[in-house]
This record gives sequence, C-alpha cells and structure tokens, in this order.
Amino acid sequence: MNLAHRLQGQVALITGGGGEIGTAIALRLAAEGSAIVVGDLDPQKAEETAHKVIAQGGRATAIGVDVSDPAACEASVAFAMQSFQKLTTLVNVAATIIPDGTVETLTLEQWNKALSVNLTGAFLMCKYGVPHMRAAGGGSIINIASQLGHMGVQHRAPYCTTKAALIFFTQILAQDHAPDNIRANSISPGFILTERSSKRVGGKDKARVINGPRHLLNRPGEPEEIAAGAAYLASSDASFVTGTDILIDGGYVTFKGRMTAEGKTVMG
Ligand SMILES: NC(=O)c1ccc[n+]([C@@H]2O[C@H](COP(=O)([O-])OP(=O)(O)OC[C@H]3O[C@@H](n4cnc5c(N)ncnc54)[C@H](O)[C@@H]3O)[C@@H](O)[C@H]2O)c1
Repeated sequence: MNLAHRLQGQVALITGGGGEIGTAIALRLAAEGSAIVVGDLDPQKAEETAHKVIAQGGRATAIGVDVSDPAACEASVAFAMQSFQKLTTLVNVAATIIPDGTVETLTLEQWNKALSVNLTGAFLMCKYGVPHMRAAGGGSIINIASQLGHMGVQHRAPYCTTKAALIFFTQILAQDHAPDNIRANSISPGFILTERSSKRVGGKDKARVINGPRHLLNRPGEPEEIAAGAAYLASSDASFVTGTDILIDGGYVTFKGRMTAEGKTVMG
C-alpha cells in the first residue's frame, strides 16, 4: 500500500512532540502527508523534531508549550492555525515524570503535577483545539495513555491513575464530539524503549532484558510501532473507530505469566 498520501490535507498538533514517541509520531504522520505542529515543554526539542520532519521532506513548525498552562495551550492552537490555517488532528503525548512513592511519601505537589500535565493537559488542548477541528469538518483526537492505565502497579499511583482517567476521558470526548465528526481514541503502549522509560532500570540495554519478558512477544516496543497506530487513527482507514483504546503493548496486559530464558511463556 502506498501510504504517502493517506493523511494529505491534514494538520496535526502533537504535544510532547519533542520526546521519542512524539518524534516518531511526527515523522510518521508527516511521511503520510500531514503538516505537523510540534509542541513541547522544551522548545529546543520541539525545534529538533520539526527539523527532522522538514529534513525528510515534510512541513512542520514548532512551539514551546506547557500543557498544564491554559494560556500556553490556547497559544499553541493559535500558532497551529497561523502556521497551516486549520487543525484536523490533535495528538496528546505529553506526560510528566513523577518519582515513585506511596500516598505517604508522595507530596501533594507531585500528585497535582501528574494530574495537571497528564490529564488536564489533554483536557486543555482539546478545549482549544475542538472548535477548530469542528470548523475543519471534523478530525481525530489521539490521546497517548499507557498499559499502566489498564493495570495499576505499586508505587506509581499518579501515573497509573492519570492514564486510566485519560482512557475514560477519551471515551466521553468521543461521545460529546461525534456530532462534530471528531473521533477520539487513546493508544495504550506497552513498555516502549525510550530514554524516559529505561531510566528507572538504568538504561536501554538493561530495560530490554528486564522489561522485554513482561510482554507476550518477549521484547519491548519501539516508538515507531506506536506511531503506526497513531497514523491509522488519524487516517480514514479508522473512519469507523471512535471511543476506543488500542493496546499496542506486545501482549503486556494479556500476559499473566512470565517468560523463560528460552522465550517460552509460563503461566501463573
Ligand atoms: N515509553 C514507554 O514505555 C511508554 C509506555 C506507555 C506510555 N507511554 C507514554 O508515551 C508518551 C511519551 O513517552 P516517551 O517515552 O516518548 O517520553 P519522553 O520523555 O521522550 O516524551 C515526553 C515529552 O513530553 C514533554 N513534556 C513533559 N511535560 C510537558 C508539559 N508540561 N507540557 C508539554 N510537554 C511536556 C517532555 O519534554 C518530552 O519531550 C507519554 O505520554 C508516556 O506516558 C510511554
């Protein structure tokens, strides 16, 4: 299949677009014909992603945005409109890193930060983006949740709780904006090999060994595998898909066992 024109005429605003999964999504959507607006807390990372898109022949602009700041979210949507005169696709990738802890050790500030970036950030971007998507005749909202929004793990209450809420929020978005021809879906990645996710275990090599066997496919995922799902959800191939969550997790959530050294699954 020639995908070069699948997203022709679309304009996608991607928050957290300077990160590894965000960059992969930007490159994939651009390769399929979408114009890209990269937003990130770190403006330099946003610029770098935009340059990569342009280097592969795509169209992109970049802006610094803190998604927990309503004025910054509104300004990023205005910037997208100024850049490409419409908005059809909103990809909420931004998420903050909170240290592990329990209710006793985590501070209220840490809890509130997770909520304001991971959950309220998506709310705000949708709040300012939806009117323009409606004006464009419809579009697609893609919220990047997590496999850990499906199964809580100890010491990670802020992350798991905000990702579970993001999945639920997406279902309601889909209901509220179906009449506007706006589809809303989330993607729940499994463990994807990025600097951010690997830091906890001491780097990508260790993460491959430790986290790979937690998946039925016995390996971590790659950012490009999430980007492929985002491109599908942005495209008319997903024209009958809304209000759902797509687990792109190598079988992480389904897997109730462990992997042997030989790569065999052992249940229980
Ligand atoms: N890597 C994984 O294993 C994995 C698994 C499941 C879900 N996810 C989700 O995928 C997304 C991307 O993860 P990643 O591994 O690429 O991480 P990453 O750290 O490379 O990317 C996250 C980006 O978000 C940006 N960001 C942080 N706070 C922000 C804010 N307030 N406003 C705007 N931007 C902000 C960061 O600067 C960074 O560029 C996150 O939502 C994460 O929760 C990742």
